Amino acid sequence: MDLPRLGLGTMGIDDPAAIEMAIQLGYRHLDTAQIYDNEVVVGEGIERAAIDREELTVATKVWVDQLGADTVYESVEASLERLGLERVDLLYVHRPRGDYDPDGTLPTLAAAREDGLVGGVAVSNFEVDQLERFRDVMGRPPAANQVEYHPLFQPEDRLAHAREHGYPLVAYSPLSGGRVGDVAEVVTVAEKHGVSPAQASLAWLLAKGIYPIPKASSRDHLEANRAALDLELDEADVVRIDGVDREDELYPE
Ligand SMILES: NC(=O)c1ccc[n+]([C@@H]2O[C@H](COP(=O)([O-])OP(=O)(O)OC[C@H]3O[C@@H](n4cnc5c(N)ncnc54)[C@H](OP(=O)(O)O)[C@@H]3O)[C@@H](O)[C@H]2O)c1
Repeated sequence: MDLPRLGLGTMGIDDPAAIEMAIQLGYRHLDTAQIYDNEVVVGEGIERAAIDREELTVATKVWVDQLGADTVYESVEASLERLGLERVDLLYVHRPRGDYDPDGTLPTLAAAREDGLVGGVAVSNFEVDQLERFRDVMGRPPAANQVEYHPLFQPEDRLAHAREHGYPLVAYSPLSGGRVGDVAEVVTVAEKHGVSPAQASLAWLLAKGIYPIPKASSRDHLEANRAALDLELDEADVVRIDGVDREDELYPE
């Protein structure tokens, strides 16, 4: 899959106009989830933007109470109905808990892929042993693993696994939930390049080959985050932010 380098996180976005604006500003990867309760909003924004469907990567996630072998297929269909789409490009298992059972959930999602409802079966919040189990059952790595990844939380084992098996690591909360301006190392790199801490954080992730999905709802933030695609950090900048030794996990299990 040719995943756009920078996506849009939509958790908390409840206005289709923000989705439409993001698409107009060049965003081509939209990330939603059943639990965000905004699949209808995202679908409405896509419809208003009137963009060629093939240009967009749309991702949603099945919540943990819908992951049973007897419920997950219908749950995917319900998401498509809310989005107003015939297919999602990425369908994530949101978390490997609740009704998740690799031997039941995953073959059913593979069937949804074969039936054309889903472009790729992806996972979120998976640890390495769970990723290995996915590979055993599916005979291939996931289409993506989406994990919390930002200067204050850097799960290196997940990045190494993604690199080794050649699938994208998608970083959620890439701006530390909007608090990345409190991280001294990020501020230092940002000041050196004359950019904001948010932009420095995104450029750091991009330099590492990670796919960030910052959430933004204003035009200013949407534009600023896109501009991070043009910012090139040098090795010393990357090493500096890699070396942040404070840890603040926003979404512990
Ligand atoms: N898979 C999972 O379990 C999981 C868990 C959490 C999140 N996610 C996904 O990841 C996405 C992003 O994570 P997140 O929403 O937790 O946090 P985030 O993207 O790290 O931070 C979002 C916050 O930063 C602000 N912001 C955006 N651009 C900015 C800029 N250029 N300068 C200053 N502030 C800026 C936003 O404000 P405004 O809204 O006012 O622009 C918002 O308050 C979510 O929307 C969701 O799609 C997935």
